Amino acid sequence: MALISLQKTLLFVGILLIPTALAAPGNPSSLDACGLLASKNVTFLTVTDVANCYQAIPFNSTYAKTTLETVYTLFKDYYIFTDTALNPRAPKPFKNEPIDVLKRLEAIGKTKYTNDFQFHMDIRATIDALKDGHASYDVHCYGAYAFVNRLALHAPVVNGIQQLRVFRDTHDDEYKGCIVNKINGQPAWSYMKNWSTYDLGYSHDPNARLNIALGTQVYKPDMGRFDTFDGLFAARTVPPESDAIEYQLRCEEASRPVKVFGEWIVQPMREEVKFESVQSYVKNVCLAPEDDSTGHGPTPAPAPIPSPSPAGPHPGLEVQEFPSAEKILEGNGTVFYHLKEQPHIGVMVIHSFDISPVEVEGEVVFEGLKALHSRNVTNLVIDFQGNIGGYIELSAIVVQLLFPNRGPFDVLLEADQRVTKPLQQAALHGYKANNTEYLDASLLVDLKTGLPYEDNSIFSRPVTLTRNGRKNLYTERTALYVPTIPQSQVDIVKTFPWTNNANNIRVITDGRSGSATGMTTYFLTSEYNVEAFVVGGTAGEDMSMFSFAGASVLALSDIQQTYKGLGAVSPMKDVPFASTIRFSWEEAYARNSTIPLEYDAARYRTKNHLNYSIETSFDRSAMWKQVAALSWN
Ligand SMILES: *[C@@H]1O[C@H](CO)[C@@H](O)[C@H](O)[C@H]1NC(C)=O
Ligand SMILES: *[C@@H]1O[C@H](CO)[C@@H](O)[C@H](O)[C@H]1NC(C)=O
Ligand SMILES: *[C@@H]1O[C@H](CO)[C@@H](O)[C@H](O)[C@H]1NC(C)=O
Ligand SMILES: *[C@@H]1O[C@H](CO)[C@@H](O)[C@H](O)[C@H]1NC(C)=O
Ligand SMILES: *[C@@H]1O[C@H](CO)[C@@H](O)[C@H](O)[C@H]1NC(C)=O
Ligand SMILES: *[C@@H]1O[C@H](CO)[C@@H](O)[C@H](O)[C@H]1NC(C)=O
Ligand SMILES: *[C@@H]1O[C@H](CO)[C@@H](O)[C@H](O)[C@H]1NC(C)=O
Ligand SMILES: *[C@@H]1O[C@H](CO)[C@@H](O)[C@H](O)[C@H]1NC(C)=O
Repeated sequence: MALISLQKTLLFVGILLIPTALAAPGNPSSLDACGLLASKNVTFLTVTDVANCYQAIPFNSTYAKTTLETVYTLFKDYYIFTDTALNPRAPKPFKNEPIDVLKRLEAIGKTKYTNDFQFHMDIRATIDALKDGHASYDVHCYGAYAFVNRLALHAPVVNGIQQLRVFRDTHDDEYKGCIVNKINGQPAWSYMKNWSTYDLGYSHDPNARLNIALGTQVYKPDMGRFDTFDGLFAARTVPPESDAIEYQLRCEEASRPVKVFGEWIVQPMREEVKFESVQSYVKNVCLAPEDDSTGHGPTPAPAPIPSPSPAGPHPGLEVQEFPSAEKILEGNGTVFYHLKEQPHIGVMVIHSFDISPVEVEGEVVFEGLKALHSRNVTNLVIDFQGNIGGYIELSAIVVQLLFPNRGPFDVLLEADQRVTKPLQQAALHGYKANNTEYLDASLLVDLKTGLPYEDNSIFSRPVTLTRNGRKNLYTERTALYVPTIPQSQVDIVKTFPWTNNANNIRVITDGRSGSATGMTTYFLTSEYNVEAFVVGGTAGEDMSMFSFAGASVLALSDIQQTYKGLGAVSPMKDVPFASTIRFSWEEAYARNSTIPLEYDAARYRTKNHLNYSIETSFDRSAMWKQVAALSWN
């Protein structure tokens, strides 16, 4: 079962834009707003061109009613955190406000809309306000283009001062390194803090959101090396407010500040769709049948995911990006390095848990650890930066390879699910049926026996939990089944100096580290006492090691398919516009805790908070050395 991050596609926006046009040529004089968009050479598209087309889509009250009813039912009866989100407490490092998602959706239902785009953006903002990286609302109609700014920013600390600086400039890096004084006439730092606080979902921690807004390094398996990623402030799928951001920059060699227009570069997200008018845009884009999404795919995924590097471990790659760190082995989600000047230190980068088959990638992790051991490595740095999740099964394998199983429940997180009448009806036929993962108890562990359930009765004897004054039905405490590693591997890894030895392991995260990565980090830090370093955010403020660690994700389409597959009637109509609507469907708990891990702020904290420097922003190996020096001299 997957704990995929939703934000994944957004993370690839700006890297993987499709160079070809959606456009079909037409005659400008007789064209409506979408016709004009289609007729323009894609190289010269502006935000306004796209926004005008979006704004011209007519509001259809019948469609809107169906959409809102479905979203309302989904978040009333299926979303696991509906009641928990009412929680008034937001202990550090979280800063979430209580969100009554149902009340907000009801308010949308009472609003008289004339603008369809605004209607959908209001739903989107409501879901984003949950600050849950697993919950998202993407209508393909209004996400057909990506917007990449000329400038991407980051926030390193230089000489003790944290400031926004230019991370990348598409114009030959002309302004790279300049300090950003102002954005759209406002002080840059507070503008950015406000933007990431209010405009992003992703995390209950605004400093994790700040990290995801800014530029960073991500590992590119197709290139076999790290590369820059612009961050969600500079790479968006919702049209920005204007055609350019006005920056005031202060550059080292210049005596006075310069004004720079950071224009948005507009790129279509899909290649195949054609339209020449508002009418055909609605027909071909908005009403297009939904992608065959299974809930495991990296949807909302109009852009393709980069093809992974050739299969399996391949030692001795030519790409040696760091002079002081040798890459020794790599799988599809994992890369191993050996520090040349500190030969007792090895580095395991896990940049994705979204790798299947998980056993194959688990084998790569095992082989990599063996390779480090054969080089006499004694200390291990684990780098989870930018890893936004994937399969909980792989997460469990990684934890066991470092802290091998001592008991059957070592790598299980207790969990529960929502139960409703329609779900109980469907669950009657869900046991071991196809495509029924969220109502098939054969995939869940009975904590009393340690074995999978033998029938689906868990759904017919729910318990009532009252949260923040609301009562709802949930299953008893159970757990997702995860694989254990073979004894032959245990026998080998237990001879390694870092195995079962928290003193010889350090973890680096960046608050972007989400979902399955958060669960892995939770196990290592809370249960096995490994120290973790979190980098970025605001210097001097508390910062989460990870985000949205306490749930797994499904798409609305998964539920609809399940009901269809069981010959049952879903309580939700399909939404008229092609959409990817995701939600958390199962909540996990930290050991001995009654607070769902998603909201268990204490588990997200670490005392080790690092700032980015210019050097560590652009050179990952510098960060590994910094952490090693702070940890082991
Ligand atoms: C779009 O404009 C670019 C730059 O002027 C040009 O190279 C390209 O051929 C044009 N494409 C089309 C389809 O006209
Ligand atoms: C909404 O769309 C449906 C289906 O295309 C159509 O029958 C109906 O007339 C539309 N309603 C309005 C108010 O445009
Ligand atoms: C991060 O920067 C702040 C502000 O300059 C400083 O007070 C703090 O000591 C720095 N943290 C580390 C670990 O260097
Ligand atoms: C902060 O962002 C919100 C949402 O984008 C906006 O409405 C508000 O005006 C901003 N506040 C400031 C002080 O910039
Ligand atoms: C990596 O991905 C490729 C292509 O999907 C696959 O053939 C290969 O088995 C994968 N390797 C690992 C180690 O998972
Ligand atoms: C590892 O240490 C052993 C024992 O000290 C030594 O014989 C061996 O050459 C070392 N291996 C490497 C790759 O340095
Ligand atoms: C489930 O799907 C598999 C493969 O698609 C098929 O072989 C099997 O018969 C199906 N089982 C049921 C109960 O429908
Ligand atoms: C959970 O509680 C048990 C029993 O009180 C205790 O032995 C164990 O150490 C606790 N585990 C954690 C991770 O707090």
